[in-house]
Amino acid sequence: MDKEIITGGKKIFYRVYGNGKPVLLVHGFGETGDVWKNQVEFLKNKFQLIVPDLPGSGQSEMIDDMSMEGMAEVLKIILDTESSKASPFRGGLVGLIGHSMGGYIALAFVEKYEGLLSSFGLFHSSAFADTEEKKATRRKGIEFIKEHGAFEFLKTATPNLFSPRSKDEMPGLIGEFVESLNNFSPESLVSYYESMIKRPDRTAILKKTKMPVLFILGEFDNAIPLQDGLKQCHLPEQATINILHRSGHMGMMEETDKCNRLLEEFLSVP
Ligand code: MLT
Repeated sequence: MDKEIITGGKKIFYRVYGNGKPVLLVHGFGETGDVWKNQVEFLKNKFQLIVPDLPGSGQSEMIDDMSMEGMAEVLKIILDTESSKASPFRGGLVGLIGHSMGGYIALAFVEKYEGLLSSFGLFHSSAFADTEEKKATRRKGIEFIKEHGAFEFLKTATPNLFSPRSKDEMPGLIGEFVESLNNFSPESLVSYYESMIKRPDRTAILKKTKMPVLFILGEFDNAIPLQDGLKQCHLPEQATINILHRSGHMGMMEETDKCNRLLEEFLSVP
């Protein structure tokens, strides 16, 4: 079911599917909640899936505070809204999975609202801050977006998020996905990049948490290189670590069945 809330005068759009334990699926940069559509089909019979469009993506408007923390507050508002309906969410009940930038936002959420969650997952994501090199790449990206527009940027950058094998085997799907990204404003993409540049290292959250943490990494991921992603996996007390050997940064599309099973198994633990 499609839903909308207004916060600070801005519209936030999200979808709710199914029944069961509540699970938030948070998309990444240059995506919308639709990126999870294959997971929704598979998981909706077992969980209540809450799938937002982040502020500035899809059908949600930009908000004043587009930082990782600001967007984590939007997740909290969505949870509060859903929780106050028929069956209130008990503390320690909700699962949270974030893809890439969605994982950075998930960590900001955990920092403040850990008590609401039962577990969380970093799906092609990282608790480390940007390196200087990454910041410089983002600054170049910002220049490109300002000069050529959001869609040109996403058309250039997005295919590189898939593994060479996926590019060979699913060119149609990748093309279709890229074409669907035609609705972003340059302002929103620039604000995401600026906010990611500013985000702090959150490895302390991984060290401190008692919750189970899921890591999904792609062997051919250019955004979160496998060797970097692996450096965080030993930090939590309880970690489930999975490497997708055929995927780049988009395992939910590249190895759908495997990701579905991993998510189902991980989220089923009470
Ligand atoms: C994403 O997919 O959200 C971005 O690639 C994240 C990033 O650039 O760090």
